[in-house]
Amino acid sequence: MNGPAERRACVIGWPISHSRSPIIHNYWLRRYAIEGRYERLPVRPEDLRHFLSDLQGQGFVGCNVTVPHKEEAFRLVEAEGDAALLTSTVNTVFLRDGRPFGRSTDGEGFVGGLVAGVPGWSPRDGTVALLGAGGAARAIAAALAGAGASRIHVFNRTPGRAEAMAGDFGPPVMAARWDDLADTLAEAGLLVNATSLGMEGQPPLEIRLDALPREAVVTDIVYVPLETPLLRAARARGNRTVDGLGMLLHQAVPGFELWFGVRPEVTPELRALVAADIGKG
Ligand code: ATR
Repeated sequence: MNGPAERRACVIGWPISHSRSPIIHNYWLRRYAIEGRYERLPVRPEDLRHFLSDLQGQGFVGCNVTVPHKEEAFRLVEAEGDAALLTSTVNTVFLRDGRPFGRSTDGEGFVGGLVAGVPGWSPRDGTVALLGAGGAARAIAAALAGAGASRIHVFNRTPGRAEAMAGDFGPPVMAARWDDLADTLAEAGLLVNATSLGMEGQPPLEIRLDALPREAVVTDIVYVPLETPLLRAARARGNRTVDGLGMLLHQAVPGFELWFGVRPEVTPELRALVAADIGKG
């Protein structure tokens, strides 16, 4: 039986088995001794509308939304914030006056992970070289632009997607050509891999880092493996690196705060817990 005071949240997807959100949120529920529960819930695409419109009736204070529901959820709830509008997705749904609202917190999570990994990092330090133009890249560009980055050069396999992104965002986001990568790297303060290259089972991201200053920070959204070939190469030449786990952990912070009323801390213990789960495959 659920106690009357128990607050329940969940992550919905189809399928849902791989999500690590329950590990994160249940860790925080224990840490802050909150009477609550966070579960995995498979929701079929055809059931999404009903699920989101009746969150409260089903006993939930909110949910995370993962593949393949992020775009449809954006259309079904009241989307809030630039990040949601610029990605046309939401990953975090919460109730306000009983109605479902949604935000996209991946970009915030990216910046949170970056600041935690490189204390003192400033978005104004040089150009951002952003590889990829999918949903993750859009979320990251929105957060970096919001944080004050002055130049974000977007490189993508399919140039039209980078151009569409530059058109939707406007400055400081610009579409760039692969031929110009070395020139951008030479003035870069931050290099971000926001493609799926380097993920287990995918080809590695093959770029030359020779032009990149040693002071630049290199980050990857991929977190399986934790140290991608890109991060290993960057570390070997003396660049500071931030892995994708920081983004995964920090994107969960706003949702937990919205649902349970406590802004939670990303602790080394939590990081170790999730890293161990990733290690299990
Ligand atoms: P996400 O929401 O995780 O960003 P996505 O929208 O499918 O997922 O975007 C994946 C990104 O990885 C895109 O930038 C994609 O490039 P394209 O727009 O050209 O598809 C990039 N990507 C995936 N596989 C790639 C590959 N083999 N080589 C180069 N880029 C790749």
